[in-house]
Amino acid sequence: MSNRQRVLSGVQPTGDLHLGNYLGAIRNWVEGQSQYDNFVFIADLHAITVPYELATLSANTYSLAALYLACGLDLNHSTIFVQSHVSAHSELTWLLNCITPLNWLQDMIQYREKAVKQGENVSVGLLDYPVLMASDILLYQPDKVPVGEDQKQHIELTRDIVNRFNHLFAKPDHPVLKLPEPLIRKEGARVMSLTDGTKKMSKSDPSDLSRINLLDSPDEIAKKIKRCKTDPTRGLEFDNPERPESNNLLTLYTLLSGKTKEEVATECQDMGWGQFKSLLTETIINALKPIQEKYQTVTDEKGYLESVLRDGRQKAVAIANQTLAQAKTAMGYSVPL
Ligand code: TYM
Repeated sequence: MSNRQRVLSGVQPTGDLHLGNYLGAIRNWVEGQSQYDNFVFIADLHAITVPYELATLSANTYSLAALYLACGLDLNHSTIFVQSHVSAHSELTWLLNCITPLNWLQDMIQYREKAVKQGENVSVGLLDYPVLMASDILLYQPDKVPVGEDQKQHIELTRDIVNRFNHLFAKPDHPVLKLPEPLIRKEGARVMSLTDGTKKMSKSDPSDLSRINLLDSPDEIAKKIKRCKTDPTRGLEFDNPERPESNNLLTLYTLLSGKTKEEVATECQDMGWGQFKSLLTETIINALKPIQEKYQTVTDEKGYLESVLRDGRQKAVAIANQTLAQAKTAMGYSVPL
């Protein structure tokens, strides 16, 4: 395990996990997990950077951990933990805050988008979110960070922070923090909304019709696909900028059916929307069924999730504290033994 490359990633426990999260991130963790030493966590400190429901934070955290397992994360290859259980994340964030220029954070696309939505209610935490994310990553010194397209800018910022930190506090041939690489798959890296093929599928879209959640029932899936946006042209095609919905839905069908892009392009080129929608509905229902069944098994077993997260925390703390101590020493602190 130790000479394998390390991978680290996480998801926020806000709202339901949808097909974008699954196809852009989690499925890729699962597919590559036997090649890597995997650290995956539930980003519950990120979840409070915008107003949130106190009553559901903890339940959502456990539900997301159960979904990780349901999607196929295997504890022989992957360590699963909760961000707030490892205090080094908050501590390294403070240290990195003090070397991160304010304007780097003000330029982040996600910050600007979310800040507009919050109006006057923008917290310092929302601005600082990417530094917390940098800390999440750097504590585990991963080689790769598998994410969807929307997180790329945050990983680039993480790399800028690493370079700045090493430049300020390390000898050129002995870097303290490791430069991580984003791992973004071409297909599925940006799944679009069902109600507007030009907008990203998102947990924060007020309309639940815009996304398929991993725990949606067959009836809900059928309803959402029936109502999803289409266009007046008969026959579906990929990569036509005038037909974003066609491209998005064909991509979903390709990824969930396991067929190749070429096979799908041929199969669907003359199909009417009605026929395609039935096919897509059935494919989504079949792809999600085993995940939903496993989710039920995992959540039915009392105490199991707690024990998974306790073990995960132990492994995560050991690595995170070591990196934190190295960073503090490099910054001139005396670290108690
Ligand atoms: P979050 O919770 O918004 O999303 C989790 C993962 O899902 C991907 N994703 C998508 N991929 C394709 N199409 C979409 N429509 C779509 N929507 C979301 C995201 O790119 C992400 O990979 N800040 C992160 C969580 C985080 C993290 C980290 C990730 C915190 N610390 C350290 C990696 C490393 C976030 O909010 O993801």
